[in-house]
Amino acid sequence: MSYPSGDGRIMVLDGVGCEVRAGTSLSIRGESGCGKTTLLNLLAGLETPDAGEIRWAGEPIGALGRGVLARKRATFIGMVFQSFYLIPELDALGNVLMAARIVGRVGPAERKRAADLLARVGLAERAHHVPAHLSGGERQRVAVARALMNRPRVVLADEPTGNLDEATGEGVISVLLEVCAEQQASLVVVTHNALHAARTNEQAFLSRQHLRRQ
Ligand SMILES: Nc1ncnc2c1ncn2[C@@H]1O[C@H](COP(=O)(O)OP(=O)(O)OP(=O)(O)O)[C@@H](O)[C@H]1O
Ligand SMILES: [Mg+2]
Repeated sequence: MSYPSGDGRIMVLDGVGCEVRAGTSLSIRGESGCGKTTLLNLLAGLETPDAGEIRWAGEPIGALGRGVLARKRATFIGMVFQSFYLIPELDALGNVLMAARIVGRVGPAERKRAADLLARVGLAERAHHVPAHLSGGERQRVAVARALMNRPRVVLADEPTGNLDEATGEGVISVLLEVCAEQQASLVVVTHNALHAARTNEQAFLSRQHLRRQ
């Protein structure tokens, strides 16, 4: 994947391969700017690589049209972005339910699941607060609940504990690991926390060797 940079381009993830087996968890560590967020965006099909191929359950996604890809992503992948992307007008429950709304009907079962997920991340009391009235860490936990809402096959989480105190961060990693295990989903989590990284089935370290200026 390359981006424009100054007069030239910066090549990120040059020669990187990554396979996530079904139902397993993988943590990715590496210094700032080495390409972790870029890797998650590529895995999610939100960016298109200059070369190479992304496959979901064996299927190359490069050939899929934008609409098909977006619909497939909504059920296949749950994402926790580094900068949450919550909808400011909706309360916490509304933000979690938005994931379900995108793929279909929102009925009592979806409402119950959304409320249960908010309770699991410790936000039962905050369900009716809009993001502006939530702390950074609370917003992050809403984003975690939203990522899990549609029972995705793969959860991609970008520093989901970055803003959290030790105990709350520990709790969020536990919820991600538990819910993914319950649903036999795969989890890819970017973290700078060695203790959190140690809890996943596999650990990867992305080196700056894969970063080149051209
Ligand atoms: N849209 C973009 N345009 C230009 N350069 C970009 C863009 N997105 C990322 N980059 C560059 O690509 C490299 C990798 O960025 P990326 O966000 O993937 O790093 P990261 O490992 O997630 O870092 P951090 O730990 O700080 O979140 C960086 O050098 C960054 O400046
Ligand atoms: Mg990043």
